[in-house]
Amino acid sequence: MIAFLLSLLTGVSAAASAAGTSACSNITSQLGSSKVTSNKYSLDYVGSTEYWNTIQDDYKPSCIVYPKNAQDVSTALQAIRAADSRFAIKAGGHNPNTYYSSVDKGVLLDLSSMTERSYDPDTTLATYQPGGVFGDIYDYYVQYNRTVVGARLAGVGTGLALGGGMSYLSPQYGMACDSFRELEIVLPSGEIVTASEKSNPDLFFASRGGGGNAYGVVTKYTVQSRPIGQLYAGNIIYLFSQKDDVISAIGDFIKYNTDPKAAIIGTYEKLPTPDLNLNIDEAIIMFLVYDGENPGDAFKNFTSIPSLLNTMSLKTYPEVVDMPIPMSTELSRGSNMFRVGVHRADNGSYENALDVWRNWAESNKGKYVLLSLDFQPVPKSLTDASKAQGGNAMQMPDGPWFWLNYLITTPPGMSEPDYNAVQASYRDMVASVDNADDLPLFINDANHDQNPLQTFSAFSKLQEIKKKYDPDNFFADKTGGWSFA
Ligand SMILES: Cc1cc2nc3c(=O)[nH]c(=O)nc-3n(C[C@H](O)[C@H](O)[C@H](O)COP(=O)(O)OP(=O)(O)OC[C@H]3O[C@@H](n4cnc5c(N)ncnc54)[C@H](O)[C@@H]3O)c2cc1C
Ligand SMILES: *[C@@H]1O[C@H](CO)[C@@H](O)[C@H](O)[C@H]1NC(C)=O
Ligand SMILES: *[C@@H]1O[C@H](CO)[C@@H](O)[C@H](O)[C@H]1NC(C)=O
Ligand SMILES: *[C@@H]1O[C@H](CO)[C@@H](O)[C@H](O)[C@H]1NC(C)=O
Ligand SMILES: *[C@@H]1O[C@H](CO)[C@@H](O)[C@H](O)[C@H]1NC(C)=O
Repeated sequence: MIAFLLSLLTGVSAAASAAGTSACSNITSQLGSSKVTSNKYSLDYVGSTEYWNTIQDDYKPSCIVYPKNAQDVSTALQAIRAADSRFAIKAGGHNPNTYYSSVDKGVLLDLSSMTERSYDPDTTLATYQPGGVFGDIYDYYVQYNRTVVGARLAGVGTGLALGGGMSYLSPQYGMACDSFRELEIVLPSGEIVTASEKSNPDLFFASRGGGGNAYGVVTKYTVQSRPIGQLYAGNIIYLFSQKDDVISAIGDFIKYNTDPKAAIIGTYEKLPTPDLNLNIDEAIIMFLVYDGENPGDAFKNFTSIPSLLNTMSLKTYPEVVDMPIPMSTELSRGSNMFRVGVHRADNGSYENALDVWRNWAESNKGKYVLLSLDFQPVPKSLTDASKAQGGNAMQMPDGPWFWLNYLITTPPGMSEPDYNAVQASYRDMVASVDNADDLPLFINDANHDQNPLQTFSAFSKLQEIKKKYDPDNFFADKTGGWSFA
């Protein structure tokens, strides 16, 4: 009551704070204080408010809740609703868009304590809860010589799969979400349901790549596991002077490679340092991964270009997701933001995108500490594997095509107007590269303002599913996420 009166006096921010505090005390009384913290100086609180996009580290949730199971999540959601509080659901905290897994003055549901995992050798199905990062999950399944389709870097969390999920194994098995067989989901109402081909198939469809944070909270994943052994993999680093040769090798790989065990990411990197003709401000880093010991000629177009460094060797899967530098399992944290593009392989769009991006980089030195442009092929074998497992929310048209991820890391401590100006300029540069208009933008690499769901051919179906499972807009109004409008 006192909190309520205070809020009338001091306005909206205090109201938000009061709603958060009220939800937190309700949750604490129901779940017990061991599952909730509001002590901003505790190790738990500090750890839970660390994000890959560090701009969000400054947000201060009223409390952080650590559910252990679906029932805890349900209790928390109902209390949040009753208090009319804002909230966020956090798995690995790698989505750079603000308020997707972060919240200021509200309840942060940190799923990190939900780390149960199992493997059934008879069915070869794996189950995992959403806590921990993919590196932990891979480490667990290695004892069975199995893995699950997930992130290409160990430090990324399980929210990846709800946005589709591109893995080094995707050319063989489809996106991470294509391997889903059954999900346990706490709906916005607090009801705990099962989603599969048979049970709530519409919810299952939307959860396969239609984004996290939208239709409920996934509290358990049951997925088809995959065999894993030794891989032939590594990085090749080139001087930027090789850029034309490397871009044609990437283009040829996208168009012509037919071996689904071969996967690549092609990354062009730009640092803001003055060039001084020393070639130290630009580099090209290829990630080349073959699921097996002998890649044949799959990477020959890359290995035949003179390079600075080549780390190709036999590696275990945990080693592969720890490239390029061991222990750098998530690349650099900082003021990071993503944008995405999508292109077919049959015209000059790679060269064009690279030129536009590089011109921007040259004329905006000092406004970034890192830029990278990543080429991510979507081969036909991937889209075939997706279809064979029922298809996902993207309804991926036949490959080959590719996604481009545009990363920008801005300097720490940039003023808000400067930050907004550089983001707007980067946005306009990306928008000036025409996308293929019949291909989906990749949720996992998209900026909030790109509205990726609207590029999905199943968009209207997703809108209906969203309306059905979040009928009073509880999630839509109280937490961040992709627009369904
Ligand atoms: C360094 C780096 C490497 C990456 N590599 C890859 C890659 O190889 N392949 C790829 O596809 N993407 C990749 N991404 C993109 C990544 O998939 C997205 O950033 C994804 O959102 C991260 O998931 P998360 O669990 O770490 O993040 P979070 O920010 O915690 O979660 C992402 C979103 O999903 C929601 N969410 C999470 N868990 C649940 C749940 N259980 N129920 C409901 N909603 C939930 C959150 O609320 C949030 O909106 C990478 C990103 C980074 C920063
Ligand atoms: C706590 O939240 C529940 C809904 O989960 C609500 O029914 C109850 O009235 C709340 N209790 C208090 C003390 O606010
Ligand atoms: C995993 O593979 C290794 C190497 O082939 C083998 O020695 C080991 O027995 C296998 N373990 C299981 C659980 O199959
Ligand atoms: C390598 O490039 C050539 C064209 O130069 C192409 O014919 C061939 O298919 C490419 N191989 C792979 C595996 O990409
Ligand atoms: C490539 O094709 C797409 C359509 O798929 C088109 O939008 C784009 O302008 C073309 N780019 C070039 C450089 O021709």
